[in-house]
Amino acid sequence: MSGVLITFEGVEGSGKTTQMRRLGRWLRAKGRRVEWTREPDGTRLGVAVRRLFEHPGVRPEPLVEVFLFMAARHQHVAEKVRPWLERGRVVLCDRYADATVAYQGYGRGVDPNLIRELNVRATGGVLPDLTLLFDLDPVEGLRRIRGRRRDRFEREALAFHRRVRRGYLEIRRAEPKRVRLVRAAAPPDVVAAEVRAIVEEFLRGA
Ligand code: TMP
Repeated sequence: MSGVLITFEGVEGSGKTTQMRRLGRWLRAKGRRVEWTREPDGTRLGVAVRRLFEHPGVRPEPLVEVFLFMAARHQHVAEKVRPWLERGRVVLCDRYADATVAYQGYGRGVDPNLIRELNVRATGGVLPDLTLLFDLDPVEGLRRIRGRRRDRFEREALAFHRRVRRGYLEIRRAEPKRVRLVRAAAPPDVVAAEVRAIVEEFLRGA
């Protein structure tokens, strides 16, 4: 496959979505062929999965959460990510395989190794070439999203978000070459410049 997959991860309110769009516009202006997408709702099936989480009375077991995100991921890779990569696109994805390790693994207590195995199956081996981890204290992240309508995960207690952050940092420790840390507490323009520098350097070597 000739394209590259760049994923954006981090705790709630870390600004990754805004920064991904900013980077996408910048790369396009530089003549790159860019696609952007998100999980779980990058496909119609994924949108249905996200809605299911919000359905009254639906309380999935932690492992069921894993299966639902994996189902959405497999469909997403088949419908969008793999075809784009085969066409040589730079694919920017707002959350991907690491999110399940961080949220369901570290957050909910599902075995992270099981999640890693399922990720390989669900993605058919389409794993990120580069991951930008927007690291932020969850206290600040949750403060930033105050007033927004919150989903099932955003409503979780602070302790959950702290475990998620720790999970992301563990993932980075294990794969420092793929996972690059972005200090998300900095002003948005500073974050954007850091993101561009990391991605530019990566694409030069890709
Ligand atoms: P967001 O990216 O718009 O914040 O929404 C995605 C939510 O779903 C977020 O709260 C994290 C959660 N999530 C998981 O718990 N596991 C996953 O594998 C993915 C992709 C998302």
